[in-house]
Amino acid sequence: MHRVFSGIQPSGELHIGNYLGAVRNWVALQSEYECIFSIVDLHAITQPYDRDALATRTFEMALGLLAAGIDPERSTLFVQSQVAEHAELAWALSVVAPLGDLERMTQFKDKAAREETVPAALLNYPILMAADILLYRADQVPVGEDQLQHLELARELARRWNARFRPGFFAEPQPMLSRARRIVGLDGNAKMSKSLGNTIGILETPEQIWEKLKPAMTDPARKTRKDPGNPDICNIYHLHQHFSTPAQVEHVAHMCRTAGWGCLDCKRLLADNMIAALAPIRERAADLRAHPERVREVLASGAERCRTIARETMGEVREIMGFYGAGAAARAT
Ligand code: TYM
Repeated sequence: MHRVFSGIQPSGELHIGNYLGAVRNWVALQSEYECIFSIVDLHAITQPYDRDALATRTFEMALGLLAAGIDPERSTLFVQSQVAEHAELAWALSVVAPLGDLERMTQFKDKAAREETVPAALLNYPILMAADILLYRADQVPVGEDQLQHLELARELARRWNARFRPGFFAEPQPMLSRARRIVGLDGNAKMSKSLGNTIGILETPEQIWEKLKPAMTDPARKTRKDPGNPDICNIYHLHQHFSTPAQVEHVAHMCRTAGWGCLDCKRLLADNMIAALAPIRERAADLRAHPERVREVLASGAERCRTIARETMGEVREIMGFYGAGAAARAT
């Protein structure tokens, strides 16, 4: 059976970008695959972060994921830093990671450009990501488009490590893209991302959702209510495709092109559909908030299970790489 692994940083909220781009896919995959999902706090510390908020954000992300439909009966959910082997395998993979490849990663270049002093962790970030996946010998990785380059590097590291130490040991992880591989933020310009402040959180209230949608960017060429619009270049139209029925999507496009509707009419329908789609998630989140021990229990048993798998993989890796005290190398000394 294929094993699915994916991760999400606790640095931001669960918003409709990472929800549609990845998490909704995770929820769907649970019925077909063995799934392991991680809140990757070790990745979140590669950029300046609020030390006092990290644990709370990690908990909040777990709560959001469970509310969004991650089912602990079927999937394993855990916090990355609770399984020490992630960092250990990252080190073991770093010996086959070409510096040039790491420096070429677009996310590294973007993030490094914003820092005065670039931490080595930012450069090594994709090695840790490869370790996350390979530690569980996972071969399917549901992600959004922005992670494809990192995943390509993970495949490269698996190939290089296998070639040097043990052919066929690690499977080369394959990406699984959802239909919403890149959700654009409310600015209509950049990828939806908490750090850019262009998000709608999946736990936001109906009022908050409407207040955010009202000023959101539409077709920039549509200056007045009477001008016909072009839905193909309108982000609100694109969002309709994920929240509205096919008939509604068609209607919206027609009303936009004929100036039958103003942008606010179009946004009102989107808001209503979005609010309805997110309502059950908000309800489950409220329920979990009243029972935080349930979230803690899921994370504790998830970490326990992952430690067992991780220890096994690292035991083999240690032996294959010839470390003192490991397997055959131990018997030789
Ligand atoms: P992160 O936390 O930035 O995002 C989590 C997932 O959501 C997807 N995503 C989006 N998809 C479409 N449109 C958007 N606007 C959008 N924003 C986010 C991301 O592609 C991702 O799938 N490095 C990863 C986390 C990670 C990981 C891993 C993923 C660490 N180890 C191992 C897979 C396997 C990250 O920062 O994702």
